[in-house]
Amino acid sequence: HLPSFIAIVLSYLVGSLSFAVIVSRAMGMADPRSYGSGNPGATNVLRSGNKGAALATLVLDALKGWLPVFVIRVFGPDHDMGMGTAALAGLAAFLGHLYPVFFGFKGGKGVATAAGVLVGIDWMLGLATGMSWAIIAFFFRYSSLASLVAAFFAPSFYLIGGGIAWPLNRTVLVTLIAISLLLIWRHRENIRRLAAGTESRLGAKKKKE
Ligand code: G3P
Repeated sequence: HLPSFIAIVLSYLVGSLSFAVIVSRAMGMADPRSYGSGNPGATNVLRSGNKGAALATLVLDALKGWLPVFVIRVFGPDHDMGMGTAALAGLAAFLGHLYPVFFGFKGGKGVATAAGVLVGIDWMLGLATGMSWAIIAFFFRYSSLASLVAAFFAPSFYLIGGGIAWPLNRTVLVTLIAISLLLIWRHRENIRRLAAGTESRLGAKKKKE
């Protein structure tokens, strides 16, 4: 129905704000699409050497995934919108990040935005998935590998915790699987580089590949 449709369209528009590009422009830095992996995301902004800009990108890209889910969870019930619509709005924000209408549909890989969506669905789900990311990133020093492992764990954790930590909702589960599959697809270049042993490690600064 109409309120849900409007909420989902608005979520896509919010998701389309590519904060890696916006933050870099605001701070007078080079466009992240012109160096490193060329990806407009926090990991690549970190390759510029500006940790503050990378952190701002991470937080803002995560917030735009969290916000629609949270707003619908809080205000949705008054408008017959439930957890399923909240998750779909999260997916819309995620799709906005991947295919931003404001940036020629050339966006990022969606890791930070997906993290925000997970926290919006349930903070414990976000925390558990975030910890799996951090453990892999700490031991292997590859942001992409950590993201790929976390993409596997997010729907798995949701399924395992369903009925225990949170009520299991089929739309949420399907949405999380869709987000994970899209996220893995967007990392196909990274997967090739990981297999070839040429992926750049966290902390390494790189020229355009
Ligand atoms: O945030 C995306 C990350 O998993 C990989 O980014 O720049 O190394 O391709 P990048």
